[in-house]
Amino acid sequence: MNNSILQTENLTKSYPLNGVEVQALRGVNVSIESGEFVAIVGPSGCGKSTLLSIAGGLMKPSSGHILLNGQDLTQLPEQESARLRRDHIGFVFQSFDLLADLTAAENVEFPMVLANRPESERRSWVQELLKRVGLADKADHLPDELSGGQKQRVAIARSLANRPNIILADEPTGIWTASLPLKSWISCPASTATMRSLWSWSPMPRTTQPAPIAESRCVMDRSKSKQEQL
Ligand SMILES: Nc1ncnc2c1ncn2[C@@H]1O[C@H](COP(=O)(O)OP(=O)(O)O)[C@@H](O)[C@H]1O
Ligand SMILES: [Mg+2]
Repeated sequence: MNNSILQTENLTKSYPLNGVEVQALRGVNVSIESGEFVAIVGPSGCGKSTLLSIAGGLMKPSSGHILLNGQDLTQLPEQESARLRRDHIGFVFQSFDLLADLTAAENVEFPMVLANRPESERRSWVQELLKRVGLADKADHLPDELSGGQKQRVAIARSLANRPNIILADEPTGIWTASLPLKSWISCPASTATMRSLWSWSPMPRTTQPAPIAESRCVMDRSKSKQEQL
């Protein structure tokens, strides 16, 4: 039986550049199951961000398929695909992409507004998420009033807002493994939905020299964790 939450089939992606096609992905097949924590590791330019964006539906592949909970995002009408992504995928962007005019709390609340969740549910869940990432006292701060690490924590809280099945994070920095482990942020036995999988993308180790692009390869590093209650 296939327990994949997210699966890609023969994904390819080429970018046109000055009349030449840059082949960023050449037939990628990955399958992420419930409870897995998967790091994609590889040198700069090997295609990590491209694969992540396509897997999260932010970009179209040149060919191939993306299955989210068994539904092929590439075959669905855009509106349906967007709804599935909104409800099932949490995204942490490399540059966080917080909305500058919204406070930390409003940024975390925003995906819930888009999903038409009632205000009473939104307010308490936002407070809970900010508490979990250690930012309860920064709820009313604008992004410009936060440090880089604090912005990233707001972005992580926002990615959890709609209780996604999977989180895609592009180059999460050491903050994830430092003083506040991700696990402690997302475990909450009192609530009902389940964080079924984490898909994280690591930067290459700082000691590694980038390989020439033609030789670049990404590798996957998996670990199966027990289910996280969210
Ligand atoms: N918009 C673009 N136009 C042309 N080439 C691109 C574009 N985005 C990425 N690429 C190329 O695709 C390859 C993969 O890039 P990327 O996915 O950003 O790699 P990584 O995240 O592993 O550093 C690189 O060779 C990069 O130069
Ligand atoms: Mg990248």
